Amino acid sequence: MPTFNLKINNKAYTVEADMDTPLLWVLRDQIELVGTKYGCGIGQCGACTVHVNGNAVRSCLLQVSQAEGMDITTIEGLSEDATHPLQQAWLEHDVPQCGYCQSGQIMSAAALLKNNPHPSDEDIEATMSGNICRCGTYIRIKQAIKTASKS
Ligand code: FES
Ligand code: FES
Repeated sequence: MPTFNLKINNKAYTVEADMDTPLLWVLRDQIELVGTKYGCGIGQCGACTVHVNGNAVRSCLLQVSQAEGMDITTIEGLSEDATHPLQQAWLEHDVPQCGYCQSGQIMSAAALLKNNPHPSDEDIEATMSGNICRCGTYIRIKQAIKTASKS
């Protein structure tokens, strides 16, 4: 089986996997970074969102062979101690309900704020429309992103 060198949350990992194994399964099953969730497996829900070279990417669609040499960040690497402004705003607004979608939501929002620190309502809606929440926490997500954008 081929070997891949990955850089995840500023740490180096070497994994064995088939070329077309989704990064999501390598993160969860081999590296045990289980904050990244499986929702749909076809790029439609956003639960598996991570950062690849600073951009929000659906890890269910990215093959491990495509991820080699990239700078990958998961929810576990977003901050060392949950002090990212979005994590603080998520707490302040008590955003999660069941929580399943929330790491993907935060990773999408973090990529948005990195590229656009003061997004408009329309910017937020356009970016976050690809992240589904079956609990309907959308209003609190938007409020939290706005709070984080002011910090
Ligand atoms: Fe990747 Fe749904 S699990 S987008
Ligand atoms: Fe339950 Fe979003 S908080 S799916």
